[in-house]
Amino acid sequence: MFDDFAPLRIREVVHETSDAVSLVLDVPPDQAERFRYRAGQFLTLQVDLDGRRHRRCYSMSSAPHTGKLQITVKRDPGGLVSNWLNDTAAIGGLLYAAPPQGRFVLGESERDIVAFAAGSGITPVFSLVDAALAESARNVRLFYANRSRQSVIFARALAELADRHPDRLTLTHHFDEVSGVVDPAVVESFLDSGRDRFDADYYICGPGPFMDLVEKSVLAAGVPPARLHLERFEAPPGDTGDAATTSAATQEVVIELDRRTTTVRYRAGDTILQCVRTAGLRAPYSCEIGSCGTCIARIVEGSARMVNNDVLDDDEVAAGYVVTCQALPTSPTVRVVYE
Ligand SMILES: Cc1cc2nc3c(=O)[nH]c(=O)nc-3n(C[C@H](O)[C@H](O)[C@H](O)COP(=O)(O)OP(=O)(O)OC[C@H]3O[C@@H](n4cnc5c(N)ncnc54)[C@H](O)[C@@H]3O)c2cc1C
Ligand code: FES
Repeated sequence: MFDDFAPLRIREVVHETSDAVSLVLDVPPDQAERFRYRAGQFLTLQVDLDGRRHRRCYSMSSAPHTGKLQITVKRDPGGLVSNWLNDTAAIGGLLYAAPPQGRFVLGESERDIVAFAAGSGITPVFSLVDAALAESARNVRLFYANRSRQSVIFARALAELADRHPDRLTLTHHFDEVSGVVDPAVVESFLDSGRDRFDADYYICGPGPFMDLVEKSVLAAGVPPARLHLERFEAPPGDTGDAATTSAATQEVVIELDRRTTTVRYRAGDTILQCVRTAGLRAPYSCEIGSCGTCIARIVEGSARMVNNDVLDDDEVAAGYVVTCQALPTSPTVRVVYE
């Protein structure tokens, strides 16, 4: 699936703030079907920099009904690809991308939408909000946190949406430099100001600590976990899945991929994705932090534990699915199938 990254040409470059750039990308006509996307999804860029190949996920900040495919990249201090894109992306340039993916999307639901975004987390959230307002009758309440007014991405586009849908979109900006960093009381008071907190789907995207705080507060307010949708851009801190935390008993990993079966001797500490690479196989992957779902496969024999999983629900995990980039074998033999 990921062998064929397609060349997308940069049609437009918009410097949204001093540290965020939007790129409108043209998809070659013969790739149009593969690059159809749903609001909230991301694509994977592959760039060669400093003599190495790097893959990074970027969410679409556009909504499909606009006919555009746009990503928005915020500088990560010290980050390689985000700064390179902000500094050098130019009209006419080519970026190599794998097709859109992701589960941070609008479901069939007709419930209200309550969205929490912070910083670059607005990217998929803007896409979702725009799509929901354009293509459904759902009401949307958006809480958007930034350090300061200057760091707000899409300030004007959001104001325009609010003007166009005064009865359906409630937009609340939060500025840390004015009101302090977001705390549980702020989230609680935003929830209180809405109609019915139980009759809504919740979407959360932003830096890890912001997401953790909002998730905890929303759950504490009694919202069922199934109503929460989270998109993480970075791995949560903590368990790194080193050799000491895996089963010393694991001997081999059997991989079924592209109608071939390959057996790999297990090296302590390796994830299943690393085993696949050791075998010289080409399996799909992207974020490598358990957030995107690109690397999902199914364990049909044996077991593994996931260091981080932001993608699979309990039923899928019970059915044997794992994000292989985070899956550490815990049984003598593990057999994994890429379906
Ligand atoms: C599903 C998904 C969607 C995403 N969507 C977006 C989006 O819409 N917009 C967006 O801006 N981002 C998005 N991201 C994040 C994006 O993929 C990148 O992770 C981000 O741009 C940083 O990449 P980078 O190459 O600039 O940073 P990297 O070079 O990967 O560095 C990341 C951080 O690690 C630090 N670091 C790097 N190497 C070391 C080292 N050796 N030791 C210590 N620290 C180090 C850097 O200083 C930096 O702070 C998304 C991520 C996911 C998983
Ligand atoms: S590569 Fe993204 S979840 Fe594994």
